[in-house]
Formats: sequence, structure tokens, C-alpha cells
Amino acid sequence: MCGIVGYIGHQGAAALLLDGLQSLEYRGYDSAGLALASGEGAFRVTRASGKLSNLRGKLDLHDPSTQGIGHTRWATHGRPTEENAHPHRSADGKIVAVHNGIFENFLELRRELQAEGAVFQSETDTEAFPVLVAHLMAQGATFTQAFRQSLGKVTGIYALACMHADDPTRVLAARSGPPLVIGLGEGEVFLASDVVPLLRHTRKVIFLEDGDVAELTREGVIVTDLAGNPVVREAQHIPFDPVAAEKGGFKHFMQKEIFEQPQAVSNTLLNRLPVESRDFIPLELPFSESDLRALQRIHIVACGTSWHAGLVGKFLIEQLARTAVEVDYASEYRYREPVIPEGTLIIGITQSGETADTLAAMKEAASRGARTLAICNVMGSSATRLAEATLLTHAGPEIGVASTKAFTTQLAVLTLLALRLGEAKGTVDPALRAELLQGLRSLPAHLEHLSGLEPRLVRWAHQFKEAKDFLYLGRGPLYPIALEGALKLKEISYIHAEGYPAGEMKHGPIALIDRDLPVVALMPKDAHREKTLSNLQEAAARDGRILGLVTAGDPGLSAIAEDVIELPEVHPWLTPILYALPLQLLAYHIAVLRGCDVDQPRNLAKSVTVE
Ligand code: AGP
Repeated sequence: MCGIVGYIGHQGAAALLLDGLQSLEYRGYDSAGLALASGEGAFRVTRASGKLSNLRGKLDLHDPSTQGIGHTRWATHGRPTEENAHPHRSADGKIVAVHNGIFENFLELRRELQAEGAVFQSETDTEAFPVLVAHLMAQGATFTQAFRQSLGKVTGIYALACMHADDPTRVLAARSGPPLVIGLGEGEVFLASDVVPLLRHTRKVIFLEDGDVAELTREGVIVTDLAGNPVVREAQHIPFDPVAAEKGGFKHFMQKEIFEQPQAVSNTLLNRLPVESRDFIPLELPFSESDLRALQRIHIVACGTSWHAGLVGKFLIEQLARTAVEVDYASEYRYREPVIPEGTLIIGITQSGETADTLAAMKEAASRGARTLAICNVMGSSATRLAEATLLTHAGPEIGVASTKAFTTQLAVLTLLALRLGEAKGTVDPALRAELLQGLRSLPAHLEHLSGLEPRLVRWAHQFKEAKDFLYLGRGPLYPIALEGALKLKEISYIHAEGYPAGEMKHGPIALIDRDLPVVALMPKDAHREKTLSNLQEAAARDGRILGLVTAGDPGLSAIAEDVIELPEVHPWLTPILYALPLQLLAYHIAVLRGCDVDQPRNLAKSVTVE
């Protein structure tokens, strides 16, 4: 939550920082602010509640300052007002700070500082930080010393940037939890919560680690630990194409990202499908064959959409590698003292690689001896650095808050992983393996074909945009896709929706069914088809309005459904990747018709770096 930017160099800082915040707006968008160093012992601080456009309207984009820090907020402590927007200041306005995370002991700190006469202007936890730095400087510490000492006094998690008006040639930054990346240019240095805002300026970046304190000047950066001991952080070259992070003619990032799925899945599979049918799947896993054979069980931890991918992963791994898989919400797993016997692999699935709950669950399992694997879309993110092994999804930057291409690429990686584990354990039937590999090869083309279904889904959207509730039903590997379809709709259209295994409907949700309830039915030709059909008959008998997604040529639902869309026939275990896309489009168009803010839905943020 929250995005941080910083700049120190020779370009106008106002426009540059604002552009940076624009790229980070997915992280939080309820208020924003900038502090620009005037060079005359003061800052020009501009803040605004609401979207970034409000800040843009208040800002002088031609401000001559060439250094400053900025922030876009997702409120945790205090309402999203201008007073609570960052940057926060010390009482004399000399120290400014922006913060992503939570200071858990802020009330205690505030009380101590108030007892010393400090006055606070906001309801936030963050304000305690610049006030504390000023307090320590008043007792004789230098800015840098006071910054470090303050870090020693706060508890919780933070990515922080801080400046002093009398020393505007340096930005101090620190990380303990949320990400922070430094970009290195010629005579200029950039700071941001992720790489995307840096890519317009440089591809040379340094990812700060937990416990790092960085001092940025025009000449470069010095990284130390909390105690001030130098630490070496190698600069890395980032290959992302910045254009991939622009809308490219689409109305919303989400729409663009839905349509990018053929390419994204193709990138996921690139170099990972064996050329010769007898070769092993070349997955970048640092585990030996005997390591893989020794795995007795797998625990998957994730949140939201990534958790749904985990449920599909469980299905695939259990089928192909005959290894028991548990899938848990990361926020539950981390606190339930999980039993982790020897031979357990923990897989953290996380698009961003920064989800606090997922990281904590992975750490918990690692501390109890589990081997660790991250399935992640962001190279260099915390999850990739925490895990022993990483499988990148290569979806490219995903900006829309609702996850789309990140999800289907996670499913593609999980299919490859399940096959790879099955190979190591000798549990995959060669003919099935060949069929799945062939199916994976043709997936991008099938996904491309699905884009042609958009007009049909627009029609569904027009017809059902006023519905109060939706029910999504599927069985087997499509049960998680029913959950995902419902989550997509909820997040961006604010319509209540439930996903259920079709066989479970009769145990309760059936009571909801009446002539106003759209029931989205996922019914490919697979082992569950007949059972699903019976369940849908039950829904139709109660006047439910059935919208079917079926395999091409299957007439099974035509008598009872309001409309049926036919999807290409693929192997049943690959249907999750295919059936997710129309559900994304349906949610997208309903949200557009309802006038919702598709890319930045209310109350959400792209990466949830708090508990
Ligand atoms: C997806 O549409 C959601 N915005 C959300 O559920 C997300 O999947 C979840 O917060 C996990 O994020 P991660 O994959 O970055 O860990």
C-alpha cells in the first residue's frame, strides 16, 4: 500500500515526481503529496485528498526545484484527508517524510513526544517519524544520526524517505518490509516503491533489502545497515519495456492486460517447453532430482487471486505428481502454527512479490525447515529474494488493480511445475504428458481466439449490469475459476458475487436462486460435465438465469440457459486458463457500464504490504 518516490538531480522535480506517482497510483489512490526542496532552508509541500489529478491541479509543474519526495496513499491510520496526506512534517517544517507501511508503536511515540511539547497535525502513524527526527536533532544529533536513531525507535514495517530543508542535497531512505528501489542515472538518482517509475529514466537499479539505510545524493548512493556498517548492493539491469506499462490505446489497463494474455502466457512458456518429447521440462529450479523426489507434501500460501491459482495448482499437482497439497490463505497459515514435517515444500504465489501475509507465511514455513519456492511476476521483489527458488511468470507489468494476466500466467507456471514434479516422481503417464504439452503450446492461440467473444460478453454485461448478486459455479479445476470470476466482479463492479463448487450449491446457496439471480455456469466437456449439468438443472428449476460457458458443440445447456458461449476444446486440466478470460471480460464490461473506476476500484490497492 502507498507509493513512494524521490528524486535528486538536475531535472525539474515536480513533473518528474508526479509522473512517478502516476505509475505508482495502483498502490494507493486516496490522497497524494509532494515536498520540493526550495534550496532556501524550506520545502514547498503540496498535498491533496482524492486522486492524483487533484494534486496535479494544485501543483506548479514548473517549480524550479530539482529534488524532492512524493507519496500516493492508501489510508491505514486516519481518513484520506489532505491533513493526513504525506509528506508529513516536523513542527518547524524542516523535516519531511513519506512512508509506506505501519508504525505499530506510533501512539506510544506520539505520547512521549507530546509530553515533550510536540504538537501533531494529523491522525497518521507516519507523522511521529519527522517529529521524532526533529526532537533528536534538537538534542544534538545530526540529520543522519537522528534518522538512524528514529529507525531504531519505531516498530512495525516501513519503506521511508526523508529530507531536511537545510541539507537538501541528500535523501535518506530505509526499508524494513515494503519495497524500495533506487534508480541510478547520470548525475541524478531516483527512488521509488517499484521499478516501473524508474524505467523512463534508467534501467540500472538497486533493490534495497530489509534493514538497509540508503543515502542518496546526485553522485550516487551509499547503502549501510541500521548501525551504519556499509553493505554491498549490486546494481541490476532491468529489461522491462516501459511501453508495456502504458495503456497503449485501451480504455483501461485492465482491458489491455486481459487482451495481453495470449502474449503473456506465451512468454511464460517460452524456453520452458521441452523441444524433444523425451526431455525434461526445463524449469529453473535449483533442486536436484533426488530433492524433487524427496518432496512428501506441498503447502501453497497466497492471497486473493493468487490463492485461487493455488487451488488450481493443488488439483494439477495432486493429479500429476500424486503429492499431497494443502492450500491456505497466507494470513491464516502464518498464525495457525502449521505442521510442517520434513520433506515439505512451501510455494508462495504472489503477483507482486510484496504481499505482507504471503511473505510472512513463507518465512514462517522456512523457519520450520520447509524448502521454499516463489511463483511471482516481479523479478527482485521480496518473495523472489526470500525464496530458495523462483519461477517467474513473465506476465509483464500488471497495473490494473484487478489481477488478470498475472493469474493466467500463474496457472501456466503451475501446470509446468505439476508436470515437472510428476516427471521427477515418475507419476505422469507419457501420453498424458504429451497431450498436456501440446495443449500448452496451443493455448496462446486459443486465448487469442477468445478476444473475439468480447461483443457477446458486452451483451451479457448490458443484460445483467443491474443484478444485485451473481452466482458462479464450476467443478474440479473450474471451481477455483468460479471463485475467481466472482472475485473479479466484486472487486471492480461492487456487485455481490459468490463462487461455489457446483455440487455444493444444494447445501445452501440454492436458497438464493430466483428469477433475478444470474448463475454463471462453467461446464466444459470433462469428467464433471454430467454432474454439473444436473446441478444446473436444479438451478434452472428455481428460475435461476443461467449463463453458460461450454465446450464448442456441446448443446447440453441450450434448453435451460439464457445464453451459452462456446469455448474451444482443450484438455480438461487446461480449461482454467481458458475459462478465466471471459469471466474477466464480463466483470470488466459490467464495471464499465456501471461507471466504476475499473483500474483503481474503491478501497483496494494493488499490493497489500500491510497485514
Ligand atoms: C486480485 O484481483 C486482487 N486485487 C487481490 O486479490 C490480489 O490477488 C491479492 O492481494 C494478492 O496479491 P499478490 O498476488 O500480489 O500477492
